[in-house]
This record gives sequence, structure tokens and C-alpha cells, in this order.
Amino acid sequence: MSADGDKRAAAEAAVLEVRAGMMVGLGTGSTAAHMIRALGRIVAGGLAIDAVATSEASATLARELGIRVHDFAGVARVDLTIDGADEIDDRLLVVKGAGGAMLREKCVAAASDRMVVIADGAKRVGAIGAARVPVEVLPFAHGFVARMLTERSDPLLRMAGGEPYRTDQQMLVVDCAFHDLSDPQGTAAWLQAIPGVLGHGLFLSEVDAAYLATDGVVTKLERPADPD
Ligand code: A5P
Repeated sequence: MSADGDKRAAAEAAVLEVRAGMMVGLGTGSTAAHMIRALGRIVAGGLAIDAVATSEASATLARELGIRVHDFAGVARVDLTIDGADEIDDRLLVVKGAGGAMLREKCVAAASDRMVVIADGAKRVGAIGAARVPVEVLPFAHGFVARMLTERSDPLLRMAGGEPYRTDQQMLVVDCAFHDLSDPQGTAAWLQAIPGVLGHGLFLSEVDAAYLATDGVVTKLERPADPD
């Protein structure tokens, strides 16, 4: 099966977690688009849910499919978020943000009682760190932030059509190849402490489960229950 077929298989497995009455967080990217289409079919079949979206693109797609999408600014809690991933390991540490939506994705994930990621099996890695980690940067502070990022990474300003890429909130993205990501929690804390860094694509505690499909076979990884 193609990678796109696997993305769709993972997405269709994950939407089975959606129940009537839920507030659902809609992720961003090609795998999330499969999930939104699957959810649209379920909603057309009569399931009543509400949703918030992690990007303008996902909100537009969901509304076209008849899904009721709310402004996240007015929503305090989300029941279930389903989103894509760029890299995921067996500890459920995840790198996200190739689509540039990681800041909104992080906000919605943090507001969610449960977050699941969906991906084709090629995204599964022994340990995160090969993919560049996207960092969302305030344009005002770009020069300073870029200098700071060079201390621990090879930073690359993301471009689109010959211009610096802009996120939905008109910020810049710097994709960072870290020299060493053996301590992702330490790296995330270091990034978050740089003034001008608004967010990043390291999702280290948000993800509860993953649906990963290889050759059409979906594997589910679940975070072990907290003993407390
Ligand atoms: C969006 O910013 C990203 O976090 C995506 O969810 C991630 O890049 C996965 O995208 P694909 O499903 O298109 O691979």
C-alpha cells in the first residue's frame, strides 16, 4: 500500500475514537486531512460533534464537509485531538510542524483530555532527532533568535515562493537540525526560554496514543497509565 493509503488507514482507525457530543481537535497536514474527511463522512451520517481546528486550512476543509468548527479562542477544553506527526518514537515523543502549524497544534493538544497522532509507519523511529525541529519565531526578534539557535543547531529559515514562510499568525519558522537531541526535554526547555521563540515542534508529553499504518496494517501505541 502507498504511504498515502497508510495515512488514510491510520486516520480512519483513529476516528473510531470519536463519540457523539465530543469537542474534537482537528490536526493539520495530509494525514489529518484524511482524518477530517473520515470525520465528515461520520458527521454526514448523523454523529453530532463540535470541533476546533489547528490551522485555517483544516478549519476550511472541515467546514466544507459540514463539521461545526468553533473559534478556539472561545474553547477551554477539548475532549479528543487527532493530529499528524513527522517523527514518533515508542516513548510517544513526537516531532511535529512540517506543515507550520505546531504552535496552534500545541495549544489545542494541551487543552485536550486525549491526543492521538496518526501517521504512516515510516514516521516511526527508534528515537526522535533525525527530523529538523520547527521553531516559530517572532519576526521582530529573528536575528537574535537565529544567533541563539546556532549554539545548539544548524538553523534554516523556512522559505515559500522565494519569501520567508509565514504561519497562520504571520510568524516565521526556523527549522533546526539539532547537534544532539538525546535530551529532548532539556532542549525543549532551552528553546522555550529564548525570548522571541513562540513555540516549537517537540511534543514530549502531549501524546497519549499513536495509530501507525504500514502496508495497510494499523498498529496502536498507547501511553501506559500514570501509576498515580
Ligand atoms: C503540521 O504543522 C504538522 O505538525 C503535521 O501534522 C505533520 O507535519 C504531519 O504532516 P503530514 O501528515 O502531512 O505528514
